[in-house]
Amino acid sequence: MKKKMGSLFMAGVIAAAMLSGCAGAESESADTEESAEAESAETAEQDTATESSNDISQKKIGICIYQFDDNFMSLYRDELVNYLVDQGFSEENITVEDSELSQEKQNQQIQTMIDNGVDVLIINAVNTSEAAGITDMAVGAGIPLVYINREPDVAEEQRWVDNGWEVTYVGCDARQSGTLQGNIIVDIGLEKVDQNDDNIVQYIMIEGDPENIDAQYRTQFSVKALEDQGWSVKCLYDEVGNWDRESAKQLSKEALEKHPETEVVFCNNDSMALGALESINEAGRTVGEDIYLVGVDALTEALDDVIDGSITGTVFNDYFDQSHRAAAATINYMKGAGNDHYIGCDYVMVTKDNAQEILDRIK
Ligand code: BGC
Repeated sequence: MKKKMGSLFMAGVIAAAMLSGCAGAESESADTEESAEAESAETAEQDTATESSNDISQKKIGICIYQFDDNFMSLYRDELVNYLVDQGFSEENITVEDSELSQEKQNQQIQTMIDNGVDVLIINAVNTSEAAGITDMAVGAGIPLVYINREPDVAEEQRWVDNGWEVTYVGCDARQSGTLQGNIIVDIGLEKVDQNDDNIVQYIMIEGDPENIDAQYRTQFSVKALEDQGWSVKCLYDEVGNWDRESAKQLSKEALEKHPETEVVFCNNDSMALGALESINEAGRTVGEDIYLVGVDALTEALDDVIDGSITGTVFNDYFDQSHRAAAATINYMKGAGNDHYIGCDYVMVTKDNAQEILDRIK
């Protein structure tokens, strides 16, 4: 797992400020009844103010999702909102916007949320390379920021650390998901995977949006897992399917026509694996017999396919864990407790052996 970066602990600072306030009130206490009454009224007022500033049901959260038209992020979004409500936030205080794949649109949405006085922002950036602009908006307005799912780059994360800003990223390390995809193939054994007995695994790769680190790492680390076993590999075709089922279907169709010798189809996510499966079937090929297919996410439909053998395996991208951690980070910021600047979680390898178990967990 990626190493967690330094922590930001505002709690101590805030606790110290509160303590000095209390001490001040005590030293000023007078012995007349009148001033005692006045003091207790003041204390009650202070308590109520503190209570309402800590009362999360009054807090406003602004959430932007890079596009609603993404199967995985729809599951994530629903779980995030449900869990925030479970934790005590009011649904009417949670604004969720569809950024429709436009960073410009997302920036406007964020500005409107800031103008409307949100207390915390949870952002699934459209273009992670433009995260600095988002961070500057939030920090400039003094609003804590929780990035989810699409991870900003190292330089951007370093700025949060260096400046001690209330900004964090919650997500999994995509290298792990790639490695687990590769391991699913490795576990099958070279003899079976290498259909044409040439001691080389011929594969095609269908990639997610190339700006997304998840796509970059899954592409790289899935193949690396095979090479790390000493297997020789040959990339026959590598195209961008943008996380999308229909695009992946078309690309795989083209790839399989050009390269009937394909032995493994790597897809950066399950939506694309489901598209690839349609083309594999149309090409008269059979997963598990003459070709192998892996995805990432563990969408319900993909898990059903793993159970019946029509997808070789997938990797559970645990949106429960991720959304719950994002909610916990949000609450920490609201309570002044602070957060690490990187909050990680683990992927889980899924094959026929545990697909039902994962399906039961997500249903
Ligand atoms: C998921 C993809 C999703 C992408 C969105 C990835 O982690 O695996 O399914 O499209 O996030 O950013």
